[in-house]
Order: sequence, then structure tokens, then C-alpha cells
Amino acid sequence: MAAGKGTRMKSRWPKVLHRLAGRALLQHVTDTTAGLKARSCVVITGHGAPEVEAKIDHLTLGYAGFDMKCVRQEPQLGTGHAVLQAVPLLPDDGVVVVLSGDVPLIAGETLRALITACAGQHLALLTIEFADPSGYGRIVRDETGWVGDDVGGVAATAPVLAIVEHKDATDAQRQIREVYSGIMAVPARWLKRWLARLDARNAQGEYYLTDIVKFAVADGVAVVAHTIDDALQVAGINSPVQLAELEREFQKRQARALMEQGVRLADPARLDVRGQLTCGEDVDIDVNCIFEGVVRLGDGVRVGANCIIANANIAAGAVIHPFTHIDGEKPGVQVGEGALVGPFARLRPGAVLGAGVHIGNFVEVKNSTLAAGAKANHLAYLGDATVGERVNFGAGSITANYDGANKHRTVIEADVHIGSNCVLVAPVIIGAGGTVGGGSTITKNTPPGALSVARGKQVSLAHWARPVKQPG
Ligand code: UD1
Ligand code: CA
Repeated sequence: MAAGKGTRMKSRWPKVLHRLAGRALLQHVTDTTAGLKARSCVVITGHGAPEVEAKIDHLTLGYAGFDMKCVRQEPQLGTGHAVLQAVPLLPDDGVVVVLSGDVPLIAGETLRALITACAGQHLALLTIEFADPSGYGRIVRDETGWVGDDVGGVAATAPVLAIVEHKDATDAQRQIREVYSGIMAVPARWLKRWLARLDARNAQGEYYLTDIVKFAVADGVAVVAHTIDDALQVAGINSPVQLAELEREFQKRQARALMEQGVRLADPARLDVRGQLTCGEDVDIDVNCIFEGVVRLGDGVRVGANCIIANANIAAGAVIHPFTHIDGEKPGVQVGEGALVGPFARLRPGAVLGAGVHIGNFVEVKNSTLAAGAKANHLAYLGDATVGERVNFGAGSITANYDGANKHRTVIEADVHIGSNCVLVAPVIIGAGGTVGGGSTITKNTPPGALSVARGKQVSLAHWARPVKQPG
């Protein structure tokens, strides 16, 4: 269900497209669904439908072979009415799992347990106990004649009779702390029959999906509650405050998981992982680092404070100094074993650094390969370059890779020394072992081993008088 307006977000954007840990709320749910290998997934859209549907189209590209469709619910007459729009697309022999696009952190294993509880024939509700249940639908059970004994050591619970929405509940029902999470698993054939019987005679004048519980009881279908105690999994987002709170809780949980694997975080409250971060042994991460996409840190990697690292594979022993920005795309930036990067370095897509490479402050590397031991320590740009082993690329030097229309490659062969403030105008090849004098603008290939200099000759005028300031 992703048709709701999300008024309290106070945003032009449909609520389900707001991001948690770098992914749209809706994408968290569809990723989990795809991971369950569901037969198909139907997204119910309404408010902001074109934007939500565009997002779904985009996601489908990433889910090879996963059947995902959208149906529109217009107008939005309640959760029962929402699901009613989707059921014509669902085969009778399946189990339907109803999820909310604004409840992003539901875990695949919880859904699997719920589907198991449904067993293809029961109505399975995901429930949770809240100290403050206000606003939620309450699980009303039949306590009459119920003895409440344990069955085989498991606390047995009275049979479920109904879900009563907060606004429709009596004072006594409002005392109930077990609530419906908004997630259920139900045989499609029953769901279709029950939806046809819904009406909107209630406090909100809506078609409540939750009314199907009464129909299940009337039809003698067992209603089973699968109860969890992890509130994060069923937390819904209604406002920017809740979004930020859930983000923090989620980040804390990821930070804890990393520390449990041995990663040392200077401060778990100052870490943001917006994707998938995998770490080897003895990884140290200082404060305020953001990891995006797929990042792998090898054994002994150290990341300094305030680094942003997206889609990168950083090999063992490399050190990423503070304020470094690594901005990879698939297949990701590569940083070789023992390389030193930063502070204030920028590695862009296609940067591939070999073992022991040094990239220093204010150095930008894009679509370039640097072989083992190459160094660019200060104020430099390497774009579309192939740099050989042990090359030293001087301060202030750049590859001029763009002629205003096309990009060209610069090849710097092994053991070359490029002085300071050089411009290598691509396409150009600097021959192995060569030296380029500081301040040179190189436009032609240079032979191996040679010193190449391309700059104005120095002139010194011995008897030159500096102008003096005129009086007045
Ligand atoms: C719903 C449940 C309530 C449960 C709570 C858990 C109903 C009637 N009530 O209440 O028992 O405790 O969730 O969070 O189901 N939506 C549509 N179309 C609509 C209405 C809603 O797609 O016409 C979507 C919303 O975008 C949202 C989800 O359904 O993703 C839940 O709707 P919401 O209005 O938030 O339901 P609640 O009142 O919170
Ligand atoms: Ca809600």
C-alpha cells in the first residue's frame, strides 16, 4: 500500500519516496519482497502516483525477473479499498502479504515466519505490544472461558475475535496493548471473498482492511497472531521527525552490528551507512563518515574523520585520511593495498589505485589507473590517465583530458617524474623513465628516458629599474 498522502510530511513528494538510509521507504519494502522471492508484487499507488510508478519502473530494472506491477487507487477510501484494487492481479492459489510502503524496516525473516503461520489456510496477523498503543488497531481476543494455561511451555493466548481501530474502540478496548502492525498474510481466495463484504460504516467512513478479521471468525477460518517485540520493524513514518528518528535507530543498529564483527568505530552515533558496508579485521573508522552504495574495507583499513565513501573497494592496510571524498559508481573505485589517500582527496568513478599508491591533498582522480607505487601528493588532476609504476606526479600538475568536445587519454609510463605545475595535453604519451620539467605544457609524446621541457626560457635583466610611484 503506497497510496496514502502523508500530509504530515509537509512535502511535495509522495511520502513513500522519502529516503531512509539512502533508499526510498518504498524501496526498502520492495527489496525485502524481492528477497522473499514472492511470485509477484503489486504496488498500490494513489497520491503522487506518477512519481511512485516511475520509481517502481526504475526498481524493476534492478530486480531481474521479479514481477512487479502498479495499480492505482483513486480515490483513497481506506486500506480495505486499497487492497481491493490489487487482488484482481493476484492468483487464487497464493498467499497475499499486505505491507505498507511507509513501514520500511520489516525484516524478511519476520515475513517468512508470518507466511509460515498462515500455512496457506489461516489469517495471520503481525502484532506487537506497545506501552502506548494509541492510534493503532487493537487486537481483541475472546477471553471468556479462557484459562490461559501454558501449552507445552509456550504461553497460549486467547483466540482473536477482531481488530478494532482506535477511533472506533471503547474505553475498555483502548486499554488493550496488543496492536495490529498493519502487516498480514492471508490466503488470496479468502481475502477476495472478505473484501467483497467490507463496508465503510465506522468512525472514519473508510473501508477497513482490518474488518476482515471478523469475517474470518464468522467463516471459521483460524486467525493467528504472530507477535514480535522489535518495534523498529513495524515503525511507520508519518513526519520528518519520525523519519529522522527511525534513521538514527537504524544507523545505531548497523553500527552495533559492525562493532560486533570487530569494527572499531570512534563513535557509533556518528556513522551513516546508506548501503552495504563490509569490513575485514581490524578496521578503524573515525567520526562523521558516510558510506554509500557497496563499500568493502579490507583488513586493517583506517578511515579518518569526515570521509564520504561511495561504491569502493579498499584493500588491506590502506589509509583514507580525513575529508576524503570517494565517489565511485559500479563497479566501484579501487584502492590498492597499503595505499594512502587524502586528506582532502577526491576519487571519482573509474579511479583504480594500485598497491602503495599515494594520493595527497587536493588531488582529484577520475577514470584513471595508477600502477603500484605511483604518487600524486599535492594539488593535481589525473583524468583519463594511465599511470605506470612508481611515477611521481608533481604538485599542481594536471592532465588536460578534454579539448572542449572530446576526452582523450594520457599515458605516463613507469618511473616517469612529472615536475610541478605541468599540463599534459592529451592524447599524449610520456615515455618510461622520462622527466618533465616543472611548468611545462606537453603537447607531443616524449621519448623514454629524456628530460622534456616546454616553457619560456628564463631571462634575467641585470640593470632593470623597478617603476617608482609618481608623486601626487
Ligand atoms: C492501519 C491499520 C491499523 C494498524 C496501523 C498500523 C487499518 C484500517 N488500520 O491504520 O489497524 O494498527 O495501520 O500502522 O488498516 N493506504 C492506502 N490507501 C488508503 C488508505 C491507506 O494505500 O485508502 C495506505 C497508506 O498509505 C499507508 C497504509 O495504507 O501506507 C496504512 O494506512 P494508514 O492510513 O496509515 O492506516 P492507519 O490508520 O495507520
Ligand atoms: Ca499509519
